[in-house]
Amino acid sequence: MASDRKSVLNAMMAHQKRLADTSMRKLFAGDSQRFRKYSATCGSMLLDYSKNRIDEQAMAALFDLARAAGVEARRDAMWAGEPINVTEGRSVMHMALRYGGTEPVKVDSKDVMPQVREVLSRMKKFVGQVRDGSIKGATGEPFTDIVNIGIGGSDLGPAMVTAALEPYTRKNLRAHYVSNVDGAHMHDTLKRLDPKTTLFIVASKTFTTDETMTNAHSARAWLAKALGEKAVGDHFAAVSTNLEACASFGISEDRIFGFWDWVGGRYSVWSSIGLPVALAVGYDNFALFLKGAAAMDSHFLTVPLEENFPVIMGLLGIWYRNAWGFATHAVLPYDQRMSRFAAYLQQQDMESNGKSVMLDGMPVDYDTGPVVWGEPGTNGQHAFYQLIHQGTSVIPCDFLVASNPHEEMGQHHQKLVANCLAQSEALMLGKTGDEVETELKAAGLKPAAIKALKPHKIFPGNRPSNTLLYRKLDPATLGMLIALYEHKVFVQGTIWNINSFDQWGVELGKQLAKAILPKVSGEDRGNGHDSSTSGLLAHYHRLRS
Ligand code: F6P
Repeated sequence: MASDRKSVLNAMMAHQKRLADTSMRKLFAGDSQRFRKYSATCGSMLLDYSKNRIDEQAMAALFDLARAAGVEARRDAMWAGEPINVTEGRSVMHMALRYGGTEPVKVDSKDVMPQVREVLSRMKKFVGQVRDGSIKGATGEPFTDIVNIGIGGSDLGPAMVTAALEPYTRKNLRAHYVSNVDGAHMHDTLKRLDPKTTLFIVASKTFTTDETMTNAHSARAWLAKALGEKAVGDHFAAVSTNLEACASFGISEDRIFGFWDWVGGRYSVWSSIGLPVALAVGYDNFALFLKGAAAMDSHFLTVPLEENFPVIMGLLGIWYRNAWGFATHAVLPYDQRMSRFAAYLQQQDMESNGKSVMLDGMPVDYDTGPVVWGEPGTNGQHAFYQLIHQGTSVIPCDFLVASNPHEEMGQHHQKLVANCLAQSEALMLGKTGDEVETELKAAGLKPAAIKALKPHKIFPGNRPSNTLLYRKLDPATLGMLIALYEHKVFVQGTIWNINSFDQWGVELGKQLAKAILPKVSGEDRGNGHDSSTSGLLAHYHRLRS
């Protein structure tokens, strides 16, 4: 970290020491304006960050840190198309994919908006024709099922968004996502499908990813076996930056939708990688999804740091990771349809900020990205919340909830909201020994029983959380939420002075898998591995024989 950044970081540490023994319970009791002070809005979305271990001085120190780290300058450099992904020499322009304005958006002094709009308009046409049945399979039947074959950013984004936007999907056009090279994934998907009415989308930025190519070839063989090789062209589309490789796979030009190397894989759901989403929910809803993200972009680019959602959330993450040493962060949507949101954020956050060298290649001497995890509430409440409330690790949480459900079903939604609000309140307040004692006495327990039970029933409280409350999980709101987390990750990467846009850490495993494959297949009986790997290989062959 640069020295000015370091001194601001030290100031932040001093605030941690100052607040180390102050409970949020006390902070709330001493300030009736706490919610007003520590909440912000973006459109109708509310961010309540008052249930954090902060006060005005600590927040001021955090905003100083953002300024010292040059968050605004780097944000503007990103939007100006500068190649801030230094290790790959690339610009980071996923915001261009959802930009709805009329200004040029330049990469290498070239306006990229005409090509963005051209691909979007081709997607719109294709989506319309598939959905109205004018594009049909080889036997003349309309498509009923779309299978997206991709992995990482070419899977997690569209799969998560399709699930989240279920109310906007149609019964007669179902989207499926196959990512794992485990044949079970493709097998179990295909077993329910009819080749005559199935459209495959091979989605890969590079079009070389082994899992995706293996799955694409298996899907192609399944289709060709049923309908003949000639049918492949009618049943496959591709999404990639590698247009030549798509063509050599046998996909016709009008079914290839491009994007560009300035779109990182984990930031690509806004590009043609979103094609299965647009097919599932209709192009107009996909356009609203882009519009929502653009609204969050505009907020991020223009709103002062003190009211800026991604900046506030990014800084609070830094506060807990670096000043308090909290290693994980839970994202807990009170929305069953966001069941894949945490998995999606794991790639977005952990592939971006799971780094240990700075931009100049020198090792960091502070912690970077946390482990991100989560599950929808209320399911999580009956699984891992015990640890969040009473475990030895403090886990900052984000709660996400809509005021309005898509379906009003009795009291379901009210109960969902009540649970969400209760959890953040319980985490903040906790339950003291005295409170436990009073409760147990009122329940008629004898003093000995109270003494034995009391320590087990105390909640330490003072456990931090943010709550994002929005009207409805519609396409625009979902776009806003995803863009919010993208920018939060950006803010943190900037402060940590790391490259949030490469992912060299995934390479070694890929290389070694290539080298081990012939040993697994038995083509090569040689050794050359550590004794554990050799032992595992030997036992594998014994089990197979
Ligand atoms: O996991 C590494 C990675 O490169 C991701 O960043 C990317 O989203 C994924 O693989 C898939 O890559 P591609 O879209 O090129 O198949």
